[in-house]
Amino acid sequence: MKRIGMLTSGGDCQALNAAMRGVVKSLVNSGQDVEIYGFLNGYRGLIYGDFKMLTGRDFSGILTVGGTILGSSRTPFKTIKDPDENGLNKVEAMKQNYHKLQLDCLVVLGGNGTHKTANLLREEGLNVVTLPKTIDNDLYGTDMTFGFQSAVDIATDCIDCIHTTAASHGRIFIVEVMGHKVGYLTLNAGMAGGADIILIPEIPYDINKIVEAVKTREKNGNRFTIIAVAEGAISKEDAKLSKKEYQKKLEKRKYPSVSYEVAAQILEKTGQEVRVTVPGHTQRGGSPCPYDRVFASRLGAEAGKLILEGEYGFMVGYRNREIVKVPLEDVAGKLKMLDPDSTIIKEAKMLGISFGD
Ligand code: F6P
Repeated sequence: MKRIGMLTSGGDCQALNAAMRGVVKSLVNSGQDVEIYGFLNGYRGLIYGDFKMLTGRDFSGILTVGGTILGSSRTPFKTIKDPDENGLNKVEAMKQNYHKLQLDCLVVLGGNGTHKTANLLREEGLNVVTLPKTIDNDLYGTDMTFGFQSAVDIATDCIDCIHTTAASHGRIFIVEVMGHKVGYLTLNAGMAGGADIILIPEIPYDINKIVEAVKTREKNGNRFTIIAVAEGAISKEDAKLSKKEYQKKLEKRKYPSVSYEVAAQILEKTGQEVRVTVPGHTQRGGSPCPYDRVFASRLGAEAGKLILEGEYGFMVGYRNREIVKVPLEDVAGKLKMLDPDSTIIKEAKMLGISFGD
């Protein structure tokens, strides 16, 4: 008998359910007897002993379902060692619940913050296996995370829709894409949607270069310009500030996000109105795309294999087109950013896309 705890933590994304289904199916199909303890709402469920017992049947019919059947929440790593409002030691509470239920291991699905806590639990002696989820694709140790391709599809659809109205009206449009501090999502959706200008955090922009690119398009007879802006995009000027100084500046910014600031600056410099569209959390919603269904199922199956073999302390990742196990200590606390010198950026530039640099 294997007693498995499972939880999904952090911002949700598509294919969380597909991944959990993959883990459970591979265990059940191996003939192994399993007891599954689904902790509710991320680490919170493990801290407060809030769980439900699940069987293989609970994982049927969820391959295509978005969100997570376990619920999720953000439990910041920064404060994980601080007592809660009632003085509870959260790390000790998680360990106690794990041992009280006599779990063989904990399967954790999450992104960057989640992996820091998963690694801490490993250091505290718990058996942990993790799966890489996030629409941002910023998790170190894996070339791909599930949720990413589905989000690329949604952001691309948004740019496609903007394209037709932009063409009718001859306007400048900005589509703001999620991705936190990295530009994978914006770069991929931007290229897929045929954006003319793409702004990502890894390549700080100069507003004059953006204006130059808009004017060049006009001179060439193009009636509209589409700009894909990562929510974490930053100007060259701001990139020189310390983290603290930039944070302070952001607190005082009169615009809701970087896109609105760029829009105002373009208006000021060209006299042309700019419309901003922010698809926001729609990018994390809905049914996973076929790629993510297959990818998350494969990762889940491989996680099941690790559990059967008693190999703990790993994230199941994907490198050079192969599923690999990556030690948690190599993943935790590191951010995977786009390399501005990577071939995809060079190719995008060859296609005439401006990065505002
Ligand atoms: O990490 C996923 C993500 O959707 C980021 O792209 C975004 O910056 C963040 O989560 C939004 O977080 P929340 O759902 O807490 O607003």
